Amino acid sequence: MRRAIEGCAKIDLTTPTVFEHPYFKKVDIIMSSLCIEVVSTSESHYSQIIGKLKKYLRPKGYMYLIGVLGQTFYMVEEQRLPCFQVT
Ligand SMILES: C[S@@+](CC[C@H](N)C(=O)[O-])C[C@H]1O[C@@H](n2cnc3c(N)ncnc32)[C@H](O)[C@@H]1O
Repeated sequence: MRRAIEGCAKIDLTTPTVFEHPYFKKVDIIMSSLCIEVVSTSESHYSQIIGKLKKYLRPKGYMYLIGVLGQTFYMVEEQRLPCFQVT
């Protein structure tokens, strides 16, 4: 699996042009763990990000999303940070 990884890129999902970087290309699997809900401000914003990500999926590719149903915040040490509630 490690040999299949071609590189890593640090991205900011709040940047409107984030996916226009030439680094991005079509892939078989897109995985996100507890990231899209952290960035999203509403259901439409969440859907918008999913829609943008979807463009980079090859036909019959998979989007693998890990989240916590009903979660409204998460903790980083003593800091309580908000997240969009996915149901
Ligand atoms: C709840 S943590 C999840 C971390 C890890 N993916 C996991 O599953 O344990 C939320 C993650 O979202 C990332 N994040 C926060 N704002 C972001 C942004 N604007 N664009 C991309 N990632 C962001 C943070 O760096 C953090 O790693």
